[in-house]
Amino acid sequence: MSRVVLIGSQWGDEGKGKVTDFLGQQADVVVRSQGGNNAGHTIIIGEEKFALQTIPSGIFNPKIKNVLANGMVINPKRALEELKNLEKRGITDYQLFISNRAHVIMPYHLDMDGAYEKFKGDNKIGTTKKGIGPCYSDKSNRIGIRMGDLVEPISLRDALENALPIKNMELESLGLKPYNFRELYEEYVEIGKKFAPFVCDTSELLQEEIEKNSNILFEGAQGTMLCLDHGTYPYVTSSSPTAASVPVNAGVPPQAIDHVVGICKAYTTRVGEGPFATELKNHLGDLIRERGHEYGTVTKRPRRVGYLDLVVVNYAKRISGIDSLALMLLDVLTGIDELKICVGYKLDGKRINTIPATLRDYSRCEPIYIDLPSWKEDITNVTNYDELPANAKNYVETIEKVTGIPVDIISIGAERNSTIIRRNIFKI
Ligand code: IMP
Repeated sequence: MSRVVLIGSQWGDEGKGKVTDFLGQQADVVVRSQGGNNAGHTIIIGEEKFALQTIPSGIFNPKIKNVLANGMVINPKRALEELKNLEKRGITDYQLFISNRAHVIMPYHLDMDGAYEKFKGDNKIGTTKKGIGPCYSDKSNRIGIRMGDLVEPISLRDALENALPIKNMELESLGLKPYNFRELYEEYVEIGKKFAPFVCDTSELLQEEIEKNSNILFEGAQGTMLCLDHGTYPYVTSSSPTAASVPVNAGVPPQAIDHVVGICKAYTTRVGEGPFATELKNHLGDLIRERGHEYGTVTKRPRRVGYLDLVVVNYAKRISGIDSLALMLLDVLTGIDELKICVGYKLDGKRINTIPATLRDYSRCEPIYIDLPSWKEDITNVTNYDELPANAKNYVETIEKVTGIPVDIISIGAERNSTIIRRNIFKI
């Protein structure tokens, strides 16, 4: 298996950063293909903790080619800041390639993200306010600015001349300040110069790597339930964080994907608004939040916490064809007496095993739980699956039974080596 996709099988924040970093050690190329700096991947290497938002996690290894592909939206100011911070901490030897077709998050996208949320009031989405939605809207509306434009002053001028009059009209109608063309143009020409060494046709680069049979890791951001098409619309992000989106968003053929790994927390969390059937609004939810450090990497917001919902994971399996699960943060559940897993929903007196399309139906779903025995033994130093307490193994194997997906990776702590590997994904 040389080309592996990692996706979030819940509402994001499943711990993809750790798995990407872990599997990235065997990868020649690490690719991000959707989203932007709304993602936050925390990576712990030895004593050091790094928080990445735009840059792929392969950046720490000078041998790995890191790709930001065409399906991404990139805030160039924030990406530069991230690179500078990495450089300050000694990460100076890296390979970074940015697609000339990726879209640029402009300052007016940030203004609009904030304004839309404010106008929506109680119906706000709870976005990360990074301008993600407005940037993807401009892409669909064909008034976006792409990285290839950013690094070419004449193309930038043309693209901005096309977009800015419309954007200024929209800004003014929202009661926001319009932008001066010249000032914005000159500022972004300068920013573009800094990106010139990185911008290229990343689809072509990936094609070459596929021909060489390189190990390629496609690192998803967010999670299936935040998918614009398949998630809990409208409480979703503006891209598709599914395996199916990878070929379009990275410019590779669908046959290029060999294996899909779904990242799944041992419980469920979500940030922002929207239905959440297994949410725990009690002491247990608070306990899991504190133990699991469930606060947003990007916004620092406390995450909503709930029991593991396997309807969600099975839905992600249907959409993305998950071949392996990576079960994260299993150690957080140690010593929790009231362990439950949701295996179905009840809606209008009937059992359903899928996610209803409308918010009204989804918010009326009641979880159907199975109770599971807990374990008290500390599992943070376990290196081999067989050493796990019987009840922890039972928890893992129940997930396998209900989803039909093998749990090939189990994470029991933040560090790289706090990981139990049952099958080597690149060698399956
Ligand atoms: P946006 O992506 O900033 O537009 O936010 C839309 C929704 O997706 C909000 O509920 C955010 O909290 C959520 N979201 C966006 N990115 C992430 C992520 O990386 N992890 C978890 N939730 C996210």
